[in-house]
Amino acid sequence: MFTHDFKTITPRPFLKWAGGKGKLIQQYIPYFPTDFKNYYEPFLGGGAVFFHLLPAHSILTDINPELINAYRCVRDQVEQVILILEKHQSKHHKEYYYEVRSGAGTSDVERAARFIYLNKTCFNGLYRENSKGAFNVPIGQYKNPTICNADLLCSVSAALKNTQIEVRPFDAVVNYAKIGTDFVYFDPPYYPLSPTSNFTAYSRNAFTETDQIKLKDIFAKLATLGVKVMLSNSDCLFIRELYKDFNIHTISAARAINSKGSKRGKIAEVLVTSY
Ligand SMILES: C[S@@+](CC[C@H](N)C(=O)[O-])C[C@H]1O[C@@H](n2cnc3c(N)ncnc32)[C@H](O)[C@@H]1O
Repeated sequence: MFTHDFKTITPRPFLKWAGGKGKLIQQYIPYFPTDFKNYYEPFLGGGAVFFHLLPAHSILTDINPELINAYRCVRDQVEQVILILEKHQSKHHKEYYYEVRSGAGTSDVERAARFIYLNKTCFNGLYRENSKGAFNVPIGQYKNPTICNADLLCSVSAALKNTQIEVRPFDAVVNYAKIGTDFVYFDPPYYPLSPTSNFTAYSRNAFTETDQIKLKDIFAKLATLGVKVMLSNSDCLFIRELYKDFNIHTISAARAINSKGSKRGKIAEVLVTSY
């Protein structure tokens, strides 16, 4: 039985996600197009830009099937997701975390609740799989993690109601976005600033230099069609050279620049626009 008395709150990302753009949005605001109809976000992740813009028509895609399943279940079956998450919250401790991590939800909602539970309690909200595709991030050091924020999940569910959410590789966007009233925001895994700065380069779903070049070709193709295109990436010679025909804006970001979280410094990122 579902008995919550919900507070209405503003939707925002409901997951912690590496590369989440929440803190950079203020710097992005001057560069968002003022006028567009359909919004496309092919590297959805935590979806910070979607939740900021809340466009009326959106197609949200990502290559991670567990992530997309979580979004779809929050959109379509939020009450069931909340009920299972509350169960996880009441049982949360170290052994329980590893028990849930080693299992797999049987239904879509169970998988979604498992995904959100692990995201809220694992080390730094990371998502990493071993070579067999099993989630393998250790538990994080949180005293009292908020595992089930029912008010937030309900407001997110409402915000997602009219969106299309699919598992797709980023290049599928060319099948959707075609005209001047379309806006595409690309937030790919960043080009690494040093060979060791990006562990994803070595994982199963590595985003390689070839992928960065393919992405630039898609950016250019969409721009030629008149689609408004915006992209985030690291500030380095390779990316500046790749996008030299477009508008490159410098964004300053506080990021961990090496493996020691304490050694954080301000480093630059770029925001590229076709308009
Ligand atoms: C930097 S994150 C996006 C962060 C997001 N904008 C946010 O604010 O949280 C990159 C995302 O790209 C996805 N991804 C990686 N390779 C991809 C590919 N080839 N096609 C589509 N998505 C991909 C990852 O699953 C991840 O969610």
